[in-house]
Amino acid sequence: MNAELPSAEHVPVMLQEALRLLGPQPGEIIADGTLGAGGHAEAVLNVLSDTGRLIGLDRDPEMAERTGERLAKQFGERVKVLCANFSDMDEVFASLSLAGADGILLDLGVASPHLDCAERGFSYRTDGPLDMRMDPDRPTAEEWINRAREEEIADVLYQYGEERRSRRIARAIVRARARGAIRRTVELAEIIRRAMPPGPRKLHPARRSFQAIRIFLNREMEHLDIFLEKLPGLLRPNGRCVIISYHSLEDRRVKNAFRDGAREETYAALTRKPLRPAPEEVRANPRSRSARLRAVRRAGQGEDS
Ligand SMILES: C[S@@+](CC[C@H](N)C(=O)[O-])C[C@H]1O[C@@H](n2cnc3c(N)ncnc32)[C@H](O)[C@@H]1O
Repeated sequence: MNAELPSAEHVPVMLQEALRLLGPQPGEIIADGTLGAGGHAEAVLNVLSDTGRLIGLDRDPEMAERTGERLAKQFGERVKVLCANFSDMDEVFASLSLAGADGILLDLGVASPHLDCAERGFSYRTDGPLDMRMDPDRPTAEEWINRAREEEIADVLYQYGEERRSRRIARAIVRARARGAIRRTVELAEIIRRAMPPGPRKLHPARRSFQAIRIFLNREMEHLDIFLEKLPGLLRPNGRCVIISYHSLEDRRVKNAFRDGAREETYAALTRKPLRPAPEEVRANPRSRSARLRAVRRAGQGEDS
């Protein structure tokens, strides 16, 4: 995990829409649960004025350290960055003697510097070790792919990648590893490519499988579920929450939690349907193409059931 992250520019996805719905006001406390390279956080800090504060979390220690240093230089005491999982945001708030936030932002998934850094093993396009860990506290993709049962691999690819060829790919992986351990990203990507029937396709054949393995190994859905469960207690009355997700498994969870909360009058919906990036944004930043943004406002005092 010590690989240098390249200083690639990170373009924050749906920044204007996120800012409008998060609605940070001077003097407020805003939490960014997925700090990444700090693009959204920096824009929020710029509108919070001298009295507002931003709490930034990232589960990746390198990302937290690097972005924390950068933001501290620019904004001083107004920003506090911690290496923590957003599923533990209640504990983070307690450690800072904070009763809640006026706004919380989640921009899910991995950051561009993760994908651009071959050493982190997230990319099927650039050769690197099969790592894919967002934090060091779990097995690597190499450990898992060389030891998991064929059915388990197929289930993970199907469940988290919605990969229709999951069984075929799992069989190819198990056959390939019988000849020697699979250690590199492009090696795995090539095994997957060869397991797919030939024909024209828009996306790389390994895209869904890599996404599935990353989500599974980092327990991304479990952390999102825990966060959504805790969310009402993390927001002050009238506090807003904006979540940007990148695939249907995440978006479905967010949609259901926000819908149930609105029915119980814990929240008021701020988006009736998910917002999508404008075509110009997708053209300028293809990584934004699958983004969906949903937002709610916590019921105010007296509005609560
Ligand atoms: C898409 S990036 C965020 C980019 C950021 N909004 C920006 O403008 O630079 C997602 C970041 O969230 C982090 N992350 C993902 N899941 C997390 C979790 N459960 N808890 C804390 N951080 C998480 C990743 O390590 C990554 O750095």
